[in-house]
Amino acid sequence: MSIKWAINTFDIIDSTQTMLKDMVLNDDSHEEGFVVSAERQSSGRARHGRTWEQGEGNLYLSFLITPNCTPQQIGQLSLLTGLAVNKTIHDHASNIDTRLKWPNDILINDLKCCGILIETLQSNEDIIQKLGIGIGINLASSPIEGSTNISCYTVDKINKSEFQNRLLNNFSDYYTLWQDYGFEKFLHEWLSFSYKKGTDVSVKSGSSKVTGKFETIDPDGNLMIVCNESLKLRKITSGEVFVL
Ligand code: BTN
Repeated sequence: MSIKWAINTFDIIDSTQTMLKDMVLNDDSHEEGFVVSAERQSSGRARHGRTWEQGEGNLYLSFLITPNCTPQQIGQLSLLTGLAVNKTIHDHASNIDTRLKWPNDILINDLKCCGILIETLQSNEDIIQKLGIGIGINLASSPIEGSTNISCYTVDKINKSEFQNRLLNNFSDYYTLWQDYGFEKFLHEWLSFSYKKGTDVSVKSGSSKVTGKFETIDPDGNLMIVCNESLKLRKITSGEVFVL
């Protein structure tokens, strides 16, 4: 069943993700599809405790889903969200050469144009009941070095609310399929946008660092690399990837 979206738009707030989290934690009646979207953020949050910089005309949204999945499946939802953003970019400009970097960065010409932050808002033993998915997409400006924005690659100006609606609908489609068929269905699509097999990568996972060659992602969405030291295939369930 497709998600019924309830979009709440603000002008300027600290962070859509923080606001979504506060609202959901303070009021149990918010349902799947509750969206917080903002024109600007003053304290956008990124993964690993970093800051997501504000850029004029960019898209900032966070939404609630109630997947009732295992903690291991959160990674799959993160890859799935990346695919939904990737599809939305291509719906607007089919010729953009996007690359997906595990788990969910989207790059154009090696520059980042989108970030995804997923946080558990409610869980019961081993079941994740509520997840907040935050997405920042550089539609019109590139706020930091190493970033780019979609409008650099399109002739027409992108309509932000149209982009957001399409993104939410795309996410809903992917999510429904994932619920019915699992992540394996998306493996081929994800790999068709990822870096090539054999690409040299290093992965920082907690305090450990592994270098090796990208092999694939497995049907559960884990990163598989051939470790330079042991020459063995190694499964990475979480971490930050640097393409060398
Ligand atoms: C990352 O690349 O580390 C993830 C960045 C996620 C940024 C988005 S912007 C909308 C939402 N609100 C936030 O404070 N963060 C996410």
